[in-house]
Amino acid sequence: MSNFNVAIDGPAGSGKSTIAKKIAQIFNLYYLDSGALYRAFGYYLKKKNFDLNNENDIINALKTFNVKIINGDYYLFDEKLDFQIRTPEIGKAASIVAKNPFVREKVNEILRNIAKKHGVVIDGRDIGTVVLPDAEVKIFLTASIQERAERRYKELIGKGKNVKLEDILKDIEKRDKADSTRKIAPLKPADDAIIVDTTGKNIETVVKEIKNIILNKI
Ligand code: C5P
Repeated sequence: MSNFNVAIDGPAGSGKSTIAKKIAQIFNLYYLDSGALYRAFGYYLKKKNFDLNNENDIINALKTFNVKIINGDYYLFDEKLDFQIRTPEIGKAASIVAKNPFVREKVNEILRNIAKKHGVVIDGRDIGTVVLPDAEVKIFLTASIQERAERRYKELIGKGKNVKLEDILKDIEKRDKADSTRKIAPLKPADDAIIVDTTGKNIETVVKEIKNIILNKI
């Protein structure tokens, strides 16, 4: 395993997870999806019928929240988390709970504990600014909102979901706004991040671009 860290931040649908997984493979780094942890917590609250906006419910749920990451898969207790946390509804729930400082602290602790043991690629919103401010490489991925919505739409349709492009676009717009205007750890590029615009580029092109950035930095 390599022992440097790569932070990949950016808005919903910018291609972070696809790109981050490939970069992790190329450089033999451990891949972590920070959004999956916020989604897992939102999913947990909903499952327990707790109120996403209630601080007491959040604090109570945090006491028992237990996510394990085994071979790149995320488990809430013994339940493997997959499609059930990838819905627009859980995306919204994640965005709501992500405003809470105790939730962020918990997620950051999980991520940093793993980064202490391995070189990692983590994708999210605040990895370069808050979680790993000393990461050797920081990338901020963007793409036009139209393209990001189209990517999400194709992904969900491909999974057999019945969704409308305009709903996804509205959803992404709302989530972008909530994520970039919140007080704690808002979505924004770190001062030393390299901005990569993926609009109109395929995955291979973006991976190549980021691979070269990393090779120049390490
Ligand atoms: O990346 P993904 O869409 O799975 O993230 C779901 C939500 O989790 C985001 O909209 C954001 O509100 C929150 N999140 C965050 N910080 C991160 C990763 C995700 O606030 N590092």
